[in-house]
Amino acid sequence: MFSNSSFLYIFLLFLPFIPLAKQDTNLIAQAKTITKPNCQSKCGNLTVPYPFGIGIGTSCSISPWFDVNCNTSFNPPKPFISTRNFEILEINDNTLLIKNFVRAACYDTSGNIIRENTASINLAATPYSFSDINRYTVVGCDDFAWITASEGRNFSSGCVALCSRTEDLIEGECSGIGCCQTVIPRGLQEFNATIVNLKAVNVSSFSLCGYAFVGDPERFRFSAGDLSDPGFQNRTIDNVPVVLDWAIGTPNCSEARNSGDFACVHENSVCVDSETGLGGYRCSCTEGYQGNPYLDSGCTDINECESHPCDENGICTNTLGGFHCACKKGYVGNGIKDERGCTAVNSQFPVIKFSLGISFGFLAVIIAVTVMYFSIKKRKIMQLREKFFQQNGGALLKQQISSNETNMKSTKIFSAVELEKATNNYAEDRILGRGSYGTVYKGILHDQQVVAIKKSRVMDQSQIEQFINEVVILAQVNHRNVVKILGCCLETEVPMLVYEYVSNGTLYHHIHNNGGMPWFSWDSRLRIATEAAGALAYLHSAAAMPVIHRDVKSPNILLDEYYTAKISDFGASRLVPVDQTQISTLVQGTLGYLDPEYFNTGQLTDKSDVYSFGVVLAELMTGRKPLSKTTAEDEKSLATFFVVSIKENRLFQIVDPRVLREGSLGQIRSIGELVKRCLKLHGEERPTMKEVTMELEGLRKFSKHPWSEQDQVQEEEIGLMSEQTSDLYNVSISPDLSTGKYTEQQQSSGATPLIYPVHRPR
Ligand SMILES: *[C@@H]1O[C@H](CO)[C@@H](O)[C@H](O)[C@H]1NC(C)=O
Ligand SMILES: *[C@@H]1O[C@H](CO)[C@@H](O)[C@H](O)[C@H]1NC(C)=O
Ligand SMILES: *[C@@H]1O[C@H](CO)[C@@H](O)[C@H](O)[C@H]1NC(C)=O
Ligand SMILES: *[C@@H]1O[C@H](CO)[C@@H](O)[C@H](O)[C@H]1NC(C)=O
Ligand SMILES: *[C@@H]1O[C@H](CO)[C@@H](O)[C@H](O)[C@H]1NC(C)=O
Ligand SMILES: *[C@@H]1O[C@H](CO)[C@@H](O)[C@H](O)[C@H]1NC(C)=O
Ligand SMILES: *[C@@H]1O[C@H](CO)[C@@H](O)[C@H](O)[C@H]1NC(C)=O
Repeated sequence: MFSNSSFLYIFLLFLPFIPLAKQDTNLIAQAKTITKPNCQSKCGNLTVPYPFGIGIGTSCSISPWFDVNCNTSFNPPKPFISTRNFEILEINDNTLLIKNFVRAACYDTSGNIIRENTASINLAATPYSFSDINRYTVVGCDDFAWITASEGRNFSSGCVALCSRTEDLIEGECSGIGCCQTVIPRGLQEFNATIVNLKAVNVSSFSLCGYAFVGDPERFRFSAGDLSDPGFQNRTIDNVPVVLDWAIGTPNCSEARNSGDFACVHENSVCVDSETGLGGYRCSCTEGYQGNPYLDSGCTDINECESHPCDENGICTNTLGGFHCACKKGYVGNGIKDERGCTAVNSQFPVIKFSLGISFGFLAVIIAVTVMYFSIKKRKIMQLREKFFQQNGGALLKQQISSNETNMKSTKIFSAVELEKATNNYAEDRILGRGSYGTVYKGILHDQQVVAIKKSRVMDQSQIEQFINEVVILAQVNHRNVVKILGCCLETEVPMLVYEYVSNGTLYHHIHNNGGMPWFSWDSRLRIATEAAGALAYLHSAAAMPVIHRDVKSPNILLDEYYTAKISDFGASRLVPVDQTQISTLVQGTLGYLDPEYFNTGQLTDKSDVYSFGVVLAELMTGRKPLSKTTAEDEKSLATFFVVSIKENRLFQIVDPRVLREGSLGQIRSIGELVKRCLKLHGEERPTMKEVTMELEGLRKFSKHPWSEQDQVQEEEIGLMSEQTSDLYNVSISPDLSTGKYTEQQQSSGATPLIYPVHRPR
């Protein structure tokens, strides 16, 4: 086994021979691929590669234009472009350097031309043209020289070289003082340089001639001595070559490719269009290859590793057309010297890791912030909804729902979005009524069901209980004369209730604002009273758990499209445990309807509702408001006024004229008595709602039988009329929904809901 050191020893031993061997093979390869077989490759010092070829009319060049006339009468021999006799100095891949011609004009002391040469280079109709590397240069001190070209392309330019003293001349500067330069464009093939003596300054003491030439500016450096140097012209001709672009023929690559003789057909070579604008093309080795692209096997792979492109700790591997750099063991990087190179693993500053980490970290932060922003926003809404839900008694309601599972099943909890949609985002034109409790909107659910949506005013905790009360009570009640609750929404700031839609407004509205409507006959009033009484009786006794409405009044009795009564607004209602007949509570109700006994004692019984219903009955009979604005003390409260009037036998004077017209005296008297009993100050003396209902039902039957014929006719008439008038009603009332419908009480009635705290002695 060899150790590392023995390897090194063997390597050192052979080291001197390796480069030598390599050089030899390169030389052989070069010789093979410079010229066509059996062609001379050198003329004097100049190597002439194919497509150029030494000899005139031989097949060593690609065309006669590339024949090189090697004149051996010179020593060393000089190569010339055979067709034009220009001495070739250098041949490159895309340029050709030839010996220059310098135009000179020399003057006498008076400024007259005494000597002038007319040297020019005419490349017209050749594959050669002046390269734009060249500059048109004028050297002189009182000269204007211009250049005009008309072959290849038309071009004119010129510049002025002036000076008055040699001291002003600047070494190496060719910007107008003693020397000036202009660029020339590509594609010129012939030019005329003309020098004119300006005779502006007398410079005969130091400058005798003016010179103009086109040449490689890299090889020319202006010097102050040039103006007085008689050898300037010959020196410049020898030292400043003209750079020519060359191309093969005039067809471009695509044209040449389709013609018979295309030069760029060899391995690893490509065709390049000439950029002179004169047409023609050249061949070039593909990247990673070098050599003569015009010859078979001319392009050879470049061993890039020879120029050591890899890091000192890298390993270079040459490939066809390219190379690889790898790093030695223990080093990382891409291995390329001028790029990341190779760095030792442990000493490596983790720039890449660091920057990667930074950018990934940054990205992560941005994503996290965005996600957080949206989730916080979403959570805030969710939290707000949850907060509202809890604040609005969501927990309480849920508990109620779970404890009353069977009864609450039909009650739905609506989402905020659903109700927003249903009310067209609580549009003004959807408002059915406004009151102290809040606003009622007409809503249309997605299944086209019309509903009434009650949006409460901002609530405090005590009102929340009322709200939950209403939901729970209404959910348990199923009576045709009680407004059905469909559900509620707790996600909004204020809770919202969803009811069945009752289309014809409140009883209050019909009594006080619309009393003259034909349908509102004695019979209808009696029917509505009976229906309302029946509903209350049901609430007091028949419901699963007795319910005291606590706020019975005409604004809380709604009328549907057939004028059927529907008790509503159970916000103040109380569920009464079965074994209790009375409960202590805060006094709650509406002035004018409020039971004075309850008001005084705070003891709530079902008789409180009876009192309030008595007031409603009185309203129905008299058409008067429960509290009137008249100044007369006894007329202020309808309850008192009604009772006093009966006592004083003035009942028939206070009832509504229509009631008097349509009802029988017996009926009116009976109802008067019923109202009187309902309004008894002591609850115990009042009849129950059941008794009230039965009495009213009796009166309705009674009204039908003794005066059956008359009443039948009346009923029919009324039926007809109500059908017609319901249309009228809709037309005349609907546009003015906000005035009366669903309003709990009119401001003018002074019937505001009251809550009196009751101080009971301990
Ligand atoms: C040509 O080659 C000879 C000898 O190789 C050398 O002395 C001479 O300077 C060269 N001339 C030019 C113009 O390169
Ligand atoms: C070589 O150059 C000399 C002198 O310029 C000239 O007389 C002669 O004709 C040239 N020979 C060829 C073959 O061009
Ligand atoms: C220019 O100056 C020289 C002397 O320096 C003089 O001989 C000659 O006449 C002058 N030429 C003109 C045109 O003034
Ligand atoms: C240069 O101008 C002349 C006259 O205007 C015209 O005949 C000739 O075609 C032009 N040459 C080129 C290459 O444009
Ligand atoms: C070059 O200038 C000479 C003399 O001024 C003139 O005879 C000749 O026609 C010009 N050639 C061109 C191409 O302008
Ligand atoms: C410039 O070169 C030519 C021939 O190449 C020669 O006749 C002439 O005398 C030279 N001029 C000077 C000033 O050397
Ligand atoms: C080659 O020359 C033809 C004819 O002049 C022209 O139509 C075509 O565009 C040229 N192709 C390129 C690549 O310049």
